[in-house]
Amino acid sequence: MFIISRYISSERCRVVAPLLTPYFSNCTSKAHVASIPCLFAVCFSSSLFSVVLLLPVQTKVSIMSEKKQLIINAFAMHSPSHLNPGLFRHPADQGADYKNIKHWIGLAKKLEDAKFHAIFFADVLGGYDVYKGPANLDPTIPAGAQFPINDPLYSIPAMAAATESIGFGVTASTTYDSPYALARRFSTVDHLSNGRVGWNIVTSYLDSAARNFGLDTQVEHDERYRIADEYLDVTYKLWEASWRDDAVTWRPGQSKTQGYADPKAVRQINHQGKYFQVPGPHLCEPSPQRTPFILQAGTSTAGKAFAAKHAEAVFLHAQKPELVRPSVDSIRQQAAEIGRNPQDIKVIAGALVIVSETDEEANAKFDELKTYGDREGALALFGGWTGYDLSTYADDQDFRFVEQPAVRSMVNHWASTVPGTEGQKWDKRTIAEYLTLGGNGVKIIGSVKTVADELERWVSVGDVDGFNLSYASLPDTFDDVIRLLLPELQRRGLFWSDYAVKGGTLRENIYGQKGQNRLPEAHPGAKYFWREGQEVPPYTVESN
Ligand SMILES: Cc1cc2nc3c(=O)[nH]c(=O)nc-3n(C[C@H](O)[C@H](O)[C@H](O)COP(=O)(O)O)c2cc1C
Repeated sequence: MFIISRYISSERCRVVAPLLTPYFSNCTSKAHVASIPCLFAVCFSSSLFSVVLLLPVQTKVSIMSEKKQLIINAFAMHSPSHLNPGLFRHPADQGADYKNIKHWIGLAKKLEDAKFHAIFFADVLGGYDVYKGPANLDPTIPAGAQFPINDPLYSIPAMAAATESIGFGVTASTTYDSPYALARRFSTVDHLSNGRVGWNIVTSYLDSAARNFGLDTQVEHDERYRIADEYLDVTYKLWEASWRDDAVTWRPGQSKTQGYADPKAVRQINHQGKYFQVPGPHLCEPSPQRTPFILQAGTSTAGKAFAAKHAEAVFLHAQKPELVRPSVDSIRQQAAEIGRNPQDIKVIAGALVIVSETDEEANAKFDELKTYGDREGALALFGGWTGYDLSTYADDQDFRFVEQPAVRSMVNHWASTVPGTEGQKWDKRTIAEYLTLGGNGVKIIGSVKTVADELERWVSVGDVDGFNLSYASLPDTFDDVIRLLLPELQRRGLFWSDYAVKGGTLRENIYGQKGQNRLPEAHPGAKYFWREGQEVPPYTVESN
C-alpha cells in the first residue's frame, strides 16, 4: 500500500494497516487506485507528506488527490428560531423544542451518524430591540427571533454523553464575563466532553446586552477587541500555565498517603494587566485540550487581526466566494506574519443549503418554507445586527438610495450579489424576505449537483475549508443535507466517511491529526505551555 497524504504527516511511520483506515477513507480517490504487489515495507514522512509502504500483502497504489476535505458543521441556537424567524410555526420545524434536552441529544446523534465535525451554537446576551425602538422587543417576541434564548453551554455534556466524536462549539463573549469564570466553565465542559468543546469568541454587538450588564451603551468597537486580546492572555495562562502537565499525581491504587496533585506543579498566574487582575490558580485541573478549540467571527480590521492571532477557525458570511477571498487571504497573511502556519486557521463559511432531487423541487421547498417566515422578526434581526431601525423609513423607501451610508452600502452589496434580485427595488419587504431564511449568509438552493458544484466553487475560489450550515427548518434542512448532499460530497472526495480520530478531541478532528489535542506549537497561546519537568513555565523566565 503506497499512500501519499497530508493527513498522516504527524506520525513518523505506520505499519499497522487498520490504523490507516480512517486516513485512507479520508483522502482516497477511487480513480487513483491501482493494484500492485509489494515486496517490502518502508516508511518516511516530511512535513507535508507521508509515504508508507506496507508488506507483505497484495496491495494497491493510490496517489491521493489534493482535494480539501471539507469541514461540515451545523449552526444552531438555543432559541425557537435562529436565522429563520417565525419558522417554528412550520409543521415540520422543531425549533420550539429548544428547551428539551432530548431534542439536542437526538440532533447530536443524528449529526454524528452523518459525520458532521461539530454543532456550533451561536449566542447573544440581549434582545433585538432596535427595530420600532428604542428598547422595544414587541416585533421580536412573537417571531421567536433569537428570543427567548437559553445558555448553550449546559446542553453540551448531555450531548457529549450520548456521542463520542462530534464536537461542540459554544459562543461566549469577552465583553461581559470574567476570564477566570469563563475559563473554569470551558475546562469543566472540556473534561466532561472528553475534549470536544470549542469556544466561539465574540465581543458582542447588542446595546441591549450592554445595558443589562450595567453599561449605558456598548464599549467602543476596537476597544472591545483590545479587551478581548488581554482576556485571551489571561485564559491562556489559566489553561496552559497554571497546572503543569504532570501536576495531578494520583492514580487509582496508590498508597493512602499519596496526594491528589503536586502543589509545586500548581501555580498562581499573577496576571496584572490593563483590564484584568487575576492571581489564579486556575480552578480546574488540565483538561484534554487545555485551551478549547478557538473559533472567531469578525471581519473588521480589528476583528481580522484578532482572528489572525488567536483563531483556529474563522466564520465568515458572504454572498460569493470571490468576496470572501480577500478576507481569507488577509487573515492567513497576517497569521503568517506573526509566525503562525496560515493553514492552521480553518475558514468556515456560513451557508443555508436547501437541497432536493431537482432544482425545481429545491426552489419550491425554499418558497414554501419562506411563507412561514416572520418579516417583522427579520427586520428586528436587521436592527440588532446593524443598529439601524428601518421602521423610521417609509414602506416604499428603496434602500439602495437611502441617505444613511452604512445601510445604503449594505443594501447595494446585496442588490449586486443576491441571485435573482437584479433590478429589483430593495424596500423593507425585500430586505425582510431576504433575511427571513439564512440571515445574510449565502443561500445555496438546488439539486445535489447544483449545490455540490457551488460548494466546490467556494473552496476553489474562496479558499474556504468548510461550511457552517444553518437551517430553515430543524431538523429537516439537515436531513436533506445528510440524505442527498453528503453522499455526493463523499463521492467527489470532498468529505470524509468517518472521523479522522474516532473518540478524539475537537482539535484532533478539525486538524485531522491524531494527538493534536493542544494548541499548535506556533499558536501564540502555546508560549504558555508548562510541560512536565519544567520548574516554571518558560514564559515567566523569558519575560523577566
Ligand atoms: C458567521 C458569524 C457568526 C456570528 N455569531 C455570533 C454570535 O453567535 N454571537 C455574537 O455575539 N456575535 C456573533 N457574530 C458577530 C461577530 O462576533 C462580531 O461581533 C461581528 O462580526 C462584528 O465584528 P467585526 O466588526 O470585527 O466584523 C457572528 C458573526 C458572523 C460573521
